[in-house]
Amino acid sequence: MKITFITHSTCLLEINKKKILLDPFISENPKCDNFLLKKYLSQKIDYILLTHAHYDHFCDVELFYKENSSILIISNYEISVYLKNRGIKKTYGINYGSFINFPFGKLRYTWAAHSSSFPDGSYGGNPGGFLIHTKEGNIYISGDTSVTNEMRIIPYFGKIKLSILPIGGKFTMDVNDALIASDFLKSNVVLGVHYNTFDEICIDKEESKKIFSQKGKKLILLRKDNFIEI
Ligand code: NI
Ligand code: MN
Repeated sequence: MKITFITHSTCLLEINKKKILLDPFISENPKCDNFLLKKYLSQKIDYILLTHAHYDHFCDVELFYKENSSILIISNYEISVYLKNRGIKKTYGINYGSFINFPFGKLRYTWAAHSSSFPDGSYGGNPGGFLIHTKEGNIYISGDTSVTNEMRIIPYFGKIKLSILPIGGKFTMDVNDALIASDFLKSNVVLGVHYNTFDEICIDKEESKKIFSQKGKKLILLRKDNFIEI
């Protein structure tokens, strides 16, 4: 499994020869340029996963769809209805429920303590994250959330190879909260996201990594457009 950190919470997962884009936010991201946008718009993306409707996660979904209308967009039910009403046919609406099979593995929508509204202020359904079980390992993407007790249930479904957690604070967990989350998740390897994009979510990267390493855990912080293989 290859995981590219594009920027903010935007990642590209390559699992079982499928390309899965998470929460695309490039065109209006102050840390990104046109080069990065073009690079990813020109890739053959198979799926887009949306954790919630906030613009720093939802921003570029229509742009990617316009480029490639064979993309299947997986999100909560309300987001899928919203997109359908805007003429996007290939959506797959889900909710907190059970595992659902896809060609890349099985996926479930998980609890997040956050909010979810579209840029026009309309209701964006319950915010969430994704737990993806695959032959290449299991990965948990929390989405924007505080640390929650519900995270304790995630490892009951199976061991996680990697968790993708926000660490920027204020609107989500900060790094200390993410460390507690990693205990709940029984997940010792974390890819940190949702930091340093805006002034309000600035962190000290080296200090953050130390907070994890002091507990024998690993916090991976990638430069934008860099990847890891797990
Ligand atoms: Ni949000
Ligand atoms: Mn966000």
